[in-house]
Amino acid sequence: MDKIHIPVLLKESIDSLDIKADGFYIDCTLGDGGHSFEIFKKLNSKGLLLSIDQDQYAIDFVKDYYKDSLKENWRIEKNNFSKISELAKSLNRTPDGILMDLGLSSRQLEYSHNRGFSYQEENEPLDMRMDEQLGVKAKDLLVALPEKELARLFLTYGEERYAKRIASVIKKHIADINTVGDLTRLVYRVVPAAHQSSKNPSRRVFQALRIVVNDELNSLKLGLENSFKILNKRGRISVITFHSLEDRIVKDFFHNQVDSGSGVLLYKDVLAPTDEEIRENPRSASAKLRTLIKN
Ligand SMILES: C[S@@+](CC[C@H](N)C(=O)[O-])C[C@H]1O[C@@H](n2cnc3c(N)ncnc32)[C@H](O)[C@@H]1O
Repeated sequence: MDKIHIPVLLKESIDSLDIKADGFYIDCTLGDGGHSFEIFKKLNSKGLLLSIDQDQYAIDFVKDYYKDSLKENWRIEKNNFSKISELAKSLNRTPDGILMDLGLSSRQLEYSHNRGFSYQEENEPLDMRMDEQLGVKAKDLLVALPEKELARLFLTYGEERYAKRIASVIKKHIADINTVGDLTRLVYRVVPAAHQSSKNPSRRVFQALRIVVNDELNSLKLGLENSFKILNKRGRISVITFHSLEDRIVKDFFHNQVDSGSGVLLYKDVLAPTDEEIRENPRSASAKLRTLIKN
């Protein structure tokens, strides 16, 4: 199988880590392995790379695709990156650099293994778990949560203006909602045409459900805290975010470290993709890179 995901802000994020050939680096979000492989190429035999992903399909893909490059000093672990301290500890080294490239990969959207991550895959079930060991699927949330709570979820995690209307129509028709298409058709019905302009009106609802199913924001907070704790002095943590909820968490965490004198920012503001990168890879459009250096 071929690679699908085009790594976002590849040169900028690798440069931001200032990689030393004998250093220890952790890529918290392996995906199709684009960033990991770029880091690995810069290491010598004393260097070490640990790549983490919570999606077994990503792990299986990378282990097969890069089978000729995999060596002792490129470790791959299936886990949530919030567990970064335990994973690094088992390798008896403290990291010089940590990368997070958040969200979903293009592989998860296009070859979801029937998990319904994309609002375009009409016939897939409403699952959305990146880690299939997680207990709650998107459909379970729609069934279990009361209308008010569902509306709060769409508003908080999707920043969806029509959260109340969407929650109401979902609860009314819950018995008929099983697939991605069942949900997107209902959303189309209640979101005013003017609001449907260029982007799919279900986009925000899907973002909200995915965030909650995978507990993404709590994982991010824990992942940042634990990463910063284990990082070496002068070590760097770089994070690529794709929406405002993620970015706010990273921004606040980084600024708190700066205010307490524990870190400095590499860039005054964020790095964003060039127009050329966005043309070649439209999925990069909303990306923002932030880097913190530990004092
Ligand atoms: C945007 S993709 C990374 C793409 C990768 N940088 C590349 O170049 O191919 C994000 C990946 O992170 C994984 N992921 C998201 N949240 C995670 C978490 N909390 N713990 C571990 N993996 C996570 C997803 O399963 C997905 O494979």
